[in-house]
Amino acid sequence: MTAQAAIARFPPSRVPVVNVATVPQRSPLRYPGGKTWLVPHIREWLTKTAPDVLIEPFAGGAIVSLTGVMEDLVPSAVMIEIDRDVAAFWRSAFESGATLSEWIRTFDPTYENLAELAGRIPRTVEEHGFRTLVLNRTRRGGILAPGASFSRQGENGKGVASRWYPETLASRLSAISDYADSLMFMEGDGMKILPVLLEGWGRRAAVFLDPPYTASGGKRAGNRLYQHSEIDHAALFRMLDEHDSNFLMTYDAAPEIVALVKQYGFEAVSLTMKNTHHNRIPELVITSEPLFA
Ligand SMILES: C[S@@+](CC[C@H](N)C(=O)[O-])C[C@H]1O[C@@H](n2cnc3c(N)ncnc32)[C@H](O)[C@@H]1O
Repeated sequence: MTAQAAIARFPPSRVPVVNVATVPQRSPLRYPGGKTWLVPHIREWLTKTAPDVLIEPFAGGAIVSLTGVMEDLVPSAVMIEIDRDVAAFWRSAFESGATLSEWIRTFDPTYENLAELAGRIPRTVEEHGFRTLVLNRTRRGGILAPGASFSRQGENGKGVASRWYPETLASRLSAISDYADSLMFMEGDGMKILPVLLEGWGRRAAVFLDPPYTASGGKRAGNRLYQHSEIDHAALFRMLDEHDSNFLMTYDAAPEIVALVKQYGFEAVSLTMKNTHHNRIPELVITSEPLFA
């Protein structure tokens, strides 16, 4: 079964894919396949189900947690991330946002400075978090995996600095600090932490999942987008089912995933996204409740 055939099994979402330029960008991190386009679905889901807490077990740039809390759609959010570099960024954003902002304002993103930063071993969590942010903003496609190259051409021929907007980044960090009491960050394995949290919170929690998914291979910008790209997808579906959780997750429309949706009787709608290479990528929005058909 091809991805197109797989997706044809689900109705298209009635919620339109939004022009991402109209959605506030709240994350300082860039993510290949970032979920800004999904924000209207998230707003509707959280408004209808009114959870006490949002859990994002594969946080990355954490667009959904930031949007949920900053738009007052949910009182608090828990973000979980296993990647040490990304985790260092979030820890330093919450603990030392002012220091990060200061460094952002004074950093000159020349090719030489970037190469020096990439090769330096960070001594503190702030240095580590800053290094993550800079490399994420200046490497091609935001990819943090070892060996990723800098965007020499960048956007508009501006080279490595083309995604380095110091004032914008500082103001996003400042907004995150303003909401620090409502956002909690945990470094670790979402597959292990999520069931523990669901045990306690049950359906008072809403779970947003954007799991790493590599089965559809070269369609996305690079096969290994993240250093942690392997999880047990069948185990994840089973966990969500066992806890009768209120969840919304996104996946590439791959036959393996379609089979799991059917096996557990979950709800799913289809959407077609354009990636950065303007390829059309069928995506599934999978939910516990019938929300978008
Ligand atoms: C597809 S990205 C999420 C992107 C995010 N939705 C956004 O819009 O920025 C998946 C993230 O999950 C992280 N990850 C992978 N396996 C994980 C695990 N077992 N536990 C927690 N995080 C994990 C990856 O490091 C990556 O940052």
